[in-house]
Amino acid sequence: MIGKLNHVAIVVPDLAAATALYRDTLGATVSAPVDQPAHGVTVVFVELPNTKVELLAPLGDTSPVAKFLITNPTGGIHHICYEVEDILVARNTLQAAGARVLGNGEPKIGAHDKPVLFLHPKDFLGTLVELEQA
Ligand code: CO
Repeated sequence: MIGKLNHVAIVVPDLAAATALYRDTLGATVSAPVDQPAHGVTVVFVELPNTKVELLAPLGDTSPVAKFLITNPTGGIHHICYEVEDILVARNTLQAAGARVLGNGEPKIGAHDKPVLFLHPKDFLGTLVELEQA
């Protein structure tokens, strides 16, 4: 069911420092910071030959990643995103297998303007999994 690894999202306490680390130390191609108010984050996209890393910093007072930084003050991997061909088929298959979909179970438009869902980390080896319709 799952296809390509679309991205790995890392929440960081200092976006400029994290960007410099990936650009200067790791030699990666990085984007300018992009504010995504609808998602409560500012994102820097790290472009790799086969996938992306997204460096996320909280934006606004109600950012969904702010709590993560309290628990993980130096940052950490927040979620991984797999592509699926049909997000509703994927959801129905996973729910039938007993997996929990976060929120109301309906796909939302994600950071790439495509439908996404998040799966409960307790059902997936302690990892928050995002599914994005390719
Ligand atoms: Co994501």
